[in-house]
Amino acid sequence: MAGDEEDRLTRRIVLDCDPGHDDAIAILVAAGSPEVDLVGIGTVAGNQTLDKTTRNALAVATLAGLDVPVHAGCARPILRSLTNAASIHGETGLDGPTPIEPDREVARGHAAHLIAEAVLARPGETTIVATGPLTNLALAARLEPAIVSATREVVVMGGAYGRGNVTPAAEFNIHVDPEAAAVVLGEPWPVTMIGLDVTHQALCSAATRRRIAGLGSTVGDFVAALLDYYAGTNRRRSGMPDPPVHDVCTIAYLAAPGLFETRPASVEVELHGTLSAGMTVVDFDHGPDAGSGSEHGSDLAPDSGSGALGPRRVATSIDSPGFWALVVEALARL
Ligand code: RIB
Ligand code: CA
Repeated sequence: MAGDEEDRLTRRIVLDCDPGHDDAIAILVAAGSPEVDLVGIGTVAGNQTLDKTTRNALAVATLAGLDVPVHAGCARPILRSLTNAASIHGETGLDGPTPIEPDREVARGHAAHLIAEAVLARPGETTIVATGPLTNLALAARLEPAIVSATREVVVMGGAYGRGNVTPAAEFNIHVDPEAAAVVLGEPWPVTMIGLDVTHQALCSAATRRRIAGLGSTVGDFVAALLDYYAGTNRRRSGMPDPPVHDVCTIAYLAAPGLFETRPASVEVELHGTLSAGMTVVDFDHGPDAGSGSEHGSDLAPDSGSGALGPRRVATSIDSPGFWALVVEALARL
């Protein structure tokens, strides 16, 4: 029975991402976390063009020694033209380290199909993690509506109930494809939003960067070089002394939910505002289970929560020292 128990404690995830420095570290931390079972990687245009985010995902999966398929997804948002984040992630999308040559090809089939097949293969047991624009997820929900009730939880790095990082109102992943975000948030599956409000509470200090460089491994050297580059672009673009590794928070939330506090809320996306398009409008007072206060982590079973839509939880705090201990331990295992 230990195997079954172990399965229950291990979060089976399919990751949709746009590597991107923090996406890349999220893949590596997932690979190094025994609590997480990463079964597939989808890529989407976002931080860089689809060809670059896909190549980067193949390279990082190679470095991690991950035996999981990488499927390319959408090359642009549903309606809008692509705006990338080359100013943060560079021309390759992973500027900084010496590039890694992938040892595998991209898998046949669209990332939306990867998501649908991964969920339907184990109904109720698979968590979809999105760390880029939500274009592939929106497509998957339209292609295969059965995944909505079969998904254990959707965990999104995106949005904010405070300020955005592309405009004062909008965070990048939502800003790139607000229509896709509205589709995803309009479905009755359980969604946990990990936004800038939390990711900015766990910045990567110079001391932590030195600890990672001190691992003395190929992975440690690669991540240290990623972080050194990323710290520089974040400092120049946003004046932040140390960089947030936004996407890694989704993996830590699944590996150690006790590091986070989340609250029930309603989350809607502004699509039409001239100044506010892409804003996630978070209402802690009128969401499903509103008023039930904050909880450590969450156990969003598909039938929990009330309200017209599925249960929504929004992360409000993170134990930063505990987060960084988890990250360094995971990287040290690779
Ligand atoms: O706003 C931060 C998010 O946008 C992260 O996912 C980062 O990788 C970029 O995609
Ligand atoms: Ca990302």
